[in-house]
Amino acid sequence: MYKTHTCGELRISDVGKTVTLAGWVHRYRDHGGIYFIDLRDRFGLTQVVINPEDSPELSKLVADVRVEWVLQVIGEVRARPADAKNPNLDTGDIEVYATEINVLNTCKPLPFSINKEENTDETLRLKYRFLDLRRERMQKNLILRHKIIKYMRDYLDAKDFLEIETPILFKTTPEGARDYLVPSRIYPGEFYALPQSPQQLKQLLQVAGVERYFQIARCFRDEDQRGDRQPEFTQLDLEMSFVERDDILDLMEDLFTKMCEDLVPQKKILFSPWPKLTYQEAMDRFGKDSPDLRFGMELVNISDLAKDCGFTVFESAIKDGGSVRGINAKTLGEYTRKQLDELTDQVKLWGGKGLAYVKISESGEESSPFKKFFSNEKWEELLKRMEAEKGDLLLFVADSKPAVVYDCLARLRVMLGDRLGLRDNNKLAFCWIVDFPLFEWSEEEQRWDATHHPFTRPKKEDFDLLDTDPGKVRGDQYDMVLNNYELASGSIRIHERWLQEKVFDLIGLPRDVARDRFHQIMDAFEYGAPPHGGIAPGIDRFVMLMADEPNIREVIAFPKNNAARDIMSGAPSPAMEGQLRELHIKVVYPEEEKKS
Ligand code: AMO
Ligand code: AMP
Repeated sequence: MYKTHTCGELRISDVGKTVTLAGWVHRYRDHGGIYFIDLRDRFGLTQVVINPEDSPELSKLVADVRVEWVLQVIGEVRARPADAKNPNLDTGDIEVYATEINVLNTCKPLPFSINKEENTDETLRLKYRFLDLRRERMQKNLILRHKIIKYMRDYLDAKDFLEIETPILFKTTPEGARDYLVPSRIYPGEFYALPQSPQQLKQLLQVAGVERYFQIARCFRDEDQRGDRQPEFTQLDLEMSFVERDDILDLMEDLFTKMCEDLVPQKKILFSPWPKLTYQEAMDRFGKDSPDLRFGMELVNISDLAKDCGFTVFESAIKDGGSVRGINAKTLGEYTRKQLDELTDQVKLWGGKGLAYVKISESGEESSPFKKFFSNEKWEELLKRMEAEKGDLLLFVADSKPAVVYDCLARLRVMLGDRLGLRDNNKLAFCWIVDFPLFEWSEEEQRWDATHHPFTRPKKEDFDLLDTDPGKVRGDQYDMVLNNYELASGSIRIHERWLQEKVFDLIGLPRDVARDRFHQIMDAFEYGAPPHGGIAPGIDRFVMLMADEPNIREVIAFPKNNAARDIMSGAPSPAMEGQLRELHIKVVYPEEEKKS
């Protein structure tokens, strides 16, 4: 080893020892000829002192040293003078008097600071990710991620789960995104697909008698990037045999509760047991199926009052099959015209047609562009239902498409919740969303689509509806939600061939295509497949929330940027001509394609 101690290790009890440290120059100061260097390694900082009176050669060498040079320092541990102690530093009671310094490497001028937080452009950070990761905040994120994954492993190991790796080169497994394809050199024109998740494989492991499986699994999805999405990301993938829904939910609730208590004790879980909301309840109360339960401001349906109130905007939305709903933004009743216009513009960007409001001043004066249309009786009922008080601001969205009303109000609720300081990161509002519809109608393709994935089991009591009213069938599926984020999805699975075929039929997958893509799992179902189910929490999202980071790139060592590019390496990049020839692939660029 280049060192006898880490830079975070030495204490007052070590005074008098001769030690060797190695690390990076975090900071240096020249105090009238006496040099102080804060030497950093992953474990902390130690102050190194170089006194020209002790060693003129050392002082000469040190005069050239710059930040992020790599040094080995041999010296004696001494107590700091009382007025020089630093209580904020673990090693703040001591310093090391250097007797020998070896420069292990130098460092060019840095593209951004490592020893302080600055608002550095993310592209620059990603280009020099190896430097970015040296920063304290990023080191903390790497450590937290490690601890979370280790916690999951240890917990599941103690519960008799087996960690099993599944192939990356596999076949298409749909989770609603595009596949990444890998061409085969040996079989011209044939491709592996990178798994969007190990869904089929973990089910096949249940047929294989594993009973309790997990994996820290990498998933690959070619889809639009967002702050909480990456083309490759990591799941705690889990599957069990002979279980019912609540067995899985209870297990996960226990794991995540203990993990939060042990690893992020400053964060408090608000509800125990975690609330279970049906999908419909979540939509009606919060406008989305991944609600933030840290605060109220719930949606209120006023469609019945708006039906023939005289206000055309409301009436026509209802007449065309839609709804009118509102939220009460408590204490914002003094919002100005300009502020309300800004909210309206925002709602229009989200696809709404407008925003109707009722302002109630502190003195109780109401102002609203649509009050004049309402009868006294209906108006009173509206205020009552909205639980309106002095100082409140009521906001309403009407639309012929219920989904637009939900979406606009859900976003508005979260935005105003932020403004009102109702979204404290140290409060964790976990909940379960259950009883999703199994299918949704795709207008574009004029067919039913699986809302989760096609392996999800319909609820037993809804089996009959498969033939008569597929839109009403509920799946035995569940989402784990935390503070406005979907953290995990899972379900009890189909384990019979006839039922799987029926679902494939319903989503319009031709029998021959189903057989070609999924024969392995359909066959397996005919060989004693046990009842089974599972779940997959997204690890990146969970670490992001525990680290109070705004996006998952901050908790992934080497992420892609928002345009799916690795800025550091430049991937993706063109392949060499020879490689393409071996793979029997010819690239046709979009411009050429247009010409021909
Ligand atoms: P699903 O597709 O809902 O379910 O994914 C489960 C969880 O994975 C995370 N996640 C992502 N994280 C980062 N970037 C992405 N692009 C991304 N996509 C998903 C989310 C999400 O809740 N096989 C099923 C699970 C099962 O049924 O057991 C599945 O993958 O946190
Ligand atoms: P208009 O009749 O378009 O002038 O709209 C009158 C008021 O109703 C304005 O304050 C609009 O912002 C609001 N408004 C218009 N369309 C909608 C809608 N779909 N939902 C809620 N409010 C709306």
